Amino acid sequence: MSVKIIATTPYEDQKPGTSGLRKRVVHFQQPNYVENFIQSLFDSLPEKQGKTLVIGGDGRYFNDTVIQIAIRMAAANGFGRVLVGQGGILSTPGASHVIRHYGAFGGIVLSASHNPGGPDGDFGIKYNASNGGPAPERITDAVYARSRVITEYKSADTPDVDLSRKGIQHVEGMIVEVIDPVADYAALMETLFDFDAIAAMFKTGFRMRFDAMHAVTGPYAKAIIEGHLGAPDGTVINAVPLPDFGGGHPDPNLVYAKDLYDLMMGPDAPDFGAASDGDGDRNLVIGRGRFVTPSDSLAILAANAHLAPGYAKGIAGIARSMPTSAAADRVAEKLGIEMHETPTGWKFFGNLLDAGRVTICGEESAGTGSDHVREKDGLWAVLLWLNIIARRGAGVDEIVREHWATYGRNYYSRHDYEEVDSETANRLMADLRAKLPALLADGFGGREIVLADDFTYHDPVDGSTSASQGVRIGFADGSRIVFRLSGTGTVGATLRIYLERYEAPGGDHERETQEALADLVALAESVAEIGARTGRAAPSVIT
Ligand code: G1P
Ligand code: ZN
Repeated sequence: MSVKIIATTPYEDQKPGTSGLRKRVVHFQQPNYVENFIQSLFDSLPEKQGKTLVIGGDGRYFNDTVIQIAIRMAAANGFGRVLVGQGGILSTPGASHVIRHYGAFGGIVLSASHNPGGPDGDFGIKYNASNGGPAPERITDAVYARSRVITEYKSADTPDVDLSRKGIQHVEGMIVEVIDPVADYAALMETLFDFDAIAAMFKTGFRMRFDAMHAVTGPYAKAIIEGHLGAPDGTVINAVPLPDFGGGHPDPNLVYAKDLYDLMMGPDAPDFGAASDGDGDRNLVIGRGRFVTPSDSLAILAANAHLAPGYAKGIAGIARSMPTSAAADRVAEKLGIEMHETPTGWKFFGNLLDAGRVTICGEESAGTGSDHVREKDGLWAVLLWLNIIARRGAGVDEIVREHWATYGRNYYSRHDYEEVDSETANRLMADLRAKLPALLADGFGGREIVLADDFTYHDPVDGSTSASQGVRIGFADGSRIVFRLSGTGTVGATLRIYLERYEAPGGDHERETQEALADLVALAESVAEIGARTGRAAPSVIT
């Protein structure tokens, strides 16, 4: 066996963030940077000998290089088998399913999600455990600790695996099986949704546009929407994954998916518009003339999930990340099911899903998913919407309005200040935290404050605690402002401000969102002194 043990020196900055280790490509290209991280990961995983590891990524620049490195290191570290997506492709939810379906030990997913790609773009490495979900903090903490003291890594001295060829190859004693990235996932979707009803809808002229943004969902969406469901050719656009996402920013929000938004608001809008991100776990849903906020989408999907065969028996509970609007809470209350509020990041849903306490989860950042995998799943959300539309025989706008009429509307928006100086951002948050007791006691801007804290999560399943997960300021009328710093950025700090105001059934649900939230925006500005501290007059992105 040609296993080589190669000496290396540690890097200080390999701490995984909200979603794995994410840095600029050039940062990953430093000598042994990738190898150090992967070896630190393998060193933190006992009992991997002879086991199966899944490897795949979103097709971005550097994906192929790192897949070959990971395969050689997996062989040298004693894995028995690697399952890798053809062409190195596996969406994040697709990888989660493959791990679960084949009972794998875990998986490495190479992605920087919705961040731009290409030689000057971003790259990332995530590890998912045997439940198919993002590694819990106990693993990521161990990897980080290991990365700071690593002195050597192991690799097999073998040629590249041919990733274009499906079937079995060997790397030293290890089996490498190149699998169709789409087939197993499509089969899973077919068990969850009423494909016949959706196909019948397309047959009678239902028009849809799915923008895959030159990212990983392209092959999945083409096979399922145009293949299985019979939507006309051309329904899925930008379907070929490109290393630089065609120069675009594969984030399906109103800024980067503006063409889709404009189409859906225009005179010739199709019935349904959707998009997904770099690695296929996010979704954007827009009806003709109606954008659906991700928070509303979570609530509406949960309220209507029983219309899909996979959820016909009802859902056990709902979980949402703390900054996500409380729209879903009202659905859970009505259904009489459990509702959980977790920190930002999908990894916090894993225990609740594994324990069967929740079925549907979501985040305001365009992430929705269920217990079918342990990741958020963009295409799943789109298919559930299609299933609901087909079964209700109603359009998106009608479904949304009816939802608000029943449950009330949570006006909601997120304002991001990107690439703020890290020290400035940290000081802003620290000063804000220091003000919280006084805010609670005295109110602010003439308004009573009923909640002012830095969110701490107590996991009800494993008893673990996660502190400092975001500053919450809650007003007596149910309005809320949340401040937190992003854990996925690669340059400086991103300050996220989440704004929410509830309008009960019978209230005015037709106001423009930013206008409806204007007083909260002003309060957020004055309490955190954003302009004065950052020098920014306005957010960089509003979603
Ligand atoms: C962002 C989103 C978060 C999501 C994560 C990974 O994290 O806010 O909801 O889980 O990306 O897609 P953040 O940059 O806010 O830490
Ligand atoms: Zn993503």
